[in-house]
Amino acid sequence: MGLINYVTRVQFGFGALETVNEELKLAGIARPFIVTDKGVRGLGLIDQLTAILSTPPAGIYDETPGNPNEAAVRAATALFRQAGADGIVAIGGGSSLDLAKAVAVMAAHEGALKIFAAIEGGLEKITARTFPTIAIPTTAGTGSEVGRGAILILDDGRKVGLLSPYLVPRAAIVDPALTLSLPPMLTAATGMDAISHCIETYLAPSFNPPADGIALEGLRRSWANIRVASENPDNRDARANMAIAATMGAMAFQKGLGCVHSLSHALGGINPRLHHGTLNAIFMPAVLRFNRAAPASIAQDKFTRIALAMGLGSSDAVESEITDMTRAIGLPARLSELGVTRDLFDRIVAGALADHSHKTNPREASGEDYLAMLEASF
Ligand SMILES: [Fe+2]
Repeated sequence: MGLINYVTRVQFGFGALETVNEELKLAGIARPFIVTDKGVRGLGLIDQLTAILSTPPAGIYDETPGNPNEAAVRAATALFRQAGADGIVAIGGGSSLDLAKAVAVMAAHEGALKIFAAIEGGLEKITARTFPTIAIPTTAGTGSEVGRGAILILDDGRKVGLLSPYLVPRAAIVDPALTLSLPPMLTAATGMDAISHCIETYLAPSFNPPADGIALEGLRRSWANIRVASENPDNRDARANMAIAATMGAMAFQKGLGCVHSLSHALGGINPRLHHGTLNAIFMPAVLRFNRAAPASIAQDKFTRIALAMGLGSSDAVESEITDMTRAIGLPARLSELGVTRDLFDRIVAGALADHSHKTNPREASGEDYLAMLEASF
């Protein structure tokens, strides 16, 4: 049995930002609250957005941290309430989009953020009262614009996910023009996040052939374009392909992710300065080698199809090609290059075992398996 669910409206293409008034109206938002970060504001994208909006925003929160945390959720929720807003326009990278989702929940519900975390049974507590959100990504990576999840760091240091169908934005406005100013390193790191979503969710065991098809096509587009987009930021065709591939990766990952994400969530919770996409790029080869021994009923010919989507002649080369690409686009390919030390391994393993992505890996990982993957990625 499987639940197959495609719900988000996606306005896609150069100039899609112009559809924002139409989408706000459809979502029933009259007093939008903007959630973003200083970088996006500095690039002039908020000015561009407010120039298009037919009514001025009720308020703006522009202090989203690189990895959104509970303190930022509190601050933004207080501003949202003060402004008397009735919905959110989230514009930025995955951090702004995820923070906005948490604000949409917290402004409409009572209680501390942690009780809404998926691993604390939050799914049941997030209701239809959640405020509507329009999501406008300015990176091509997380795909949070079509996802039902938000990743946040709690006051107690845990990096957790809020998961609920009520978190899915009412519309995603995916305008590749907004990604043209994304610097090469961020293009590379966020692009690797998109690639890891496509690969990891494709390997997840749940039955969802439409998602599998979307994941493979997303992988084909992102793999073929990540290097061009990183090296030639103005290449519109590469930007468009990365943007739609990121959206596709997240459409597909309703199937769940796996050990790449359980590891990167755990380590990202310990050190929020490490980029999620970079960590995924580093973990992918070791996790894929581990997953090659997944039960045949789950893995089937999936590695062959992954290799085909990547344009490789042989499925044996998948892991080494990922490492080579990681280096080619200027990212570190080993944990030690990021300054991660072995004394963190036990904490990373404990976090990974408790992560919501742990359960949907095609092969169950033990603590020892995780240690071996960390060592191989070191
Ligand atoms: Fe991710």
